[in-house]
Amino acid sequence: MTRYPLEPDAQEMQQLIDEAGRRIVEHIQTLPSQPAANVDDATEFARTIIEPLPQKGEPVEKLLDFLFDEAIPRSFNTPGPGYLAYIPGGGIFHAAVADFIATAVNRYVGVFAAAPALAQLEANVVRWFCEIVGYGKGSGGVLTTGGSMSNFIALVTARKAQLGDDFSRGTMYVGNQIHYSFQKAASLAGFPPANVREIDSDEDFRVRLGALEEAIARDRAEGFTPFLIAGSAGTVGTGAVDDLDALARLADRENMWFHVDGAYGAFFVLTQRGRETLRGIERADSVVLDPHKTLFHPYGTGALVVKNAEQLRAAHSMHASYLPQFQQEEQLIDFAEISPELSRDFRGLRVWLPLKIFGIEPFRQLLDEKLDLTRWATEELRKIDGIEIVAEPQLSIVAFRFVKPAADLNALNRALMERINRGKRVMLTGTVLGTEFVVRICVVSHRTHMDRMQMCIDDIKAAVAELR
Ligand SMILES: Cc1ncc(COP(=O)(O)O)c(C=O)c1O
Repeated sequence: MTRYPLEPDAQEMQQLIDEAGRRIVEHIQTLPSQPAANVDDATEFARTIIEPLPQKGEPVEKLLDFLFDEAIPRSFNTPGPGYLAYIPGGGIFHAAVADFIATAVNRYVGVFAAAPALAQLEANVVRWFCEIVGYGKGSGGVLTTGGSMSNFIALVTARKAQLGDDFSRGTMYVGNQIHYSFQKAASLAGFPPANVREIDSDEDFRVRLGALEEAIARDRAEGFTPFLIAGSAGTVGTGAVDDLDALARLADRENMWFHVDGAYGAFFVLTQRGRETLRGIERADSVVLDPHKTLFHPYGTGALVVKNAEQLRAAHSMHASYLPQFQQEEQLIDFAEISPELSRDFRGLRVWLPLKIFGIEPFRQLLDEKLDLTRWATEELRKIDGIEIVAEPQLSIVAFRFVKPAADLNALNRALMERINRGKRVMLTGTVLGTEFVVRICVVSHRTHMDRMQMCIDDIKAAVAELR
């Protein structure tokens, strides 16, 4: 019988799964004792593994050992409990299993006709996200690879809806704390950088409404077409949430599109406190939310929801004779018709399976826990002599710095962060607010609990003591 090496038999498949599974389980079980970051020699190591196209195969066990023993450990431990840097990505295990199933069965969900039931499962996920945001009938959306892609799709949709094809005078308004993926999206959508007006923020890092109104009026007087206001539902720097309700009112009055970047923060609407902080999010025309941040999913899982799904379709709909007919019924969705992508992974299963296994409640509880942990950490920081809270937590990020008379505070705080991270029990990152370098703690991982926060505070105290 002819053997085709790319097609393993049943025994080989099982063996592959076992070999990978054994290593994965051990890896995940030891995440808490692995260093929060382990990249000291990682760049050197990366240089040593550059190689030409392999002509011959190698044993899978050897390759898996290389991955798990050499390549994977030399990283930021992004799924570990001590990763309090940037915006952490936990990566729940059930989502990984869903991914394995999705890629193993390799069904095509880009067009509805190719796998109607599976496309519907993904469409259900989008519906649930619409529900979470507070959208009603007529809303819709799409799962993406992340917040950057979602911002881009939202911007293209808004551009088409508000400006049509002649958009060179269209101007957009954002707070100066907006994530850079918005400016990038604007550039990719064909706007010159100057068409994105960055408005100053207040002492809580929220966009200043007065300055925003003035900028819009000034631009109208000068013949521009203000067409979009983008609010932040959780900035990456400090977790600041703009006054979404007020921005919605202003956008309404000015007949502008109201977009909300909730890549980090929008899922907090599941909690009581988050709902209060994010009041007005349901009034947005489009909302970005990232399951790979605050729904603890693996990287590559983003989402965009829009209040009027028709506008998403209008911006992306095209057809070609070699494609199957798109669905005519409003509730049956061809993802290719409402997004830039045609062929793509079945990313919906990654969200569908965990939500069906657990329901939403454990997610809500974990988000509440993150809010509690951040508040606890803030109170502990306040007790450390010389530590100043620069940004009180509005969600699950707190920014702080160490202040010492006559010191170069930026250098001091970079040194502080480096010392905290040296212990490798936690990894923190900083940001620059105005001209001040500040250290931030971002609590998002589903694996971060009180024991790790205690370690974080202990390590900060030790680092401060060294630098005193
Ligand atoms: C507020 C905000 N928007 C957008 C993004 C971009 O998301 P992604 O990295 O998934 O492309 C991020 C990433 O951290 C973010 O924090």
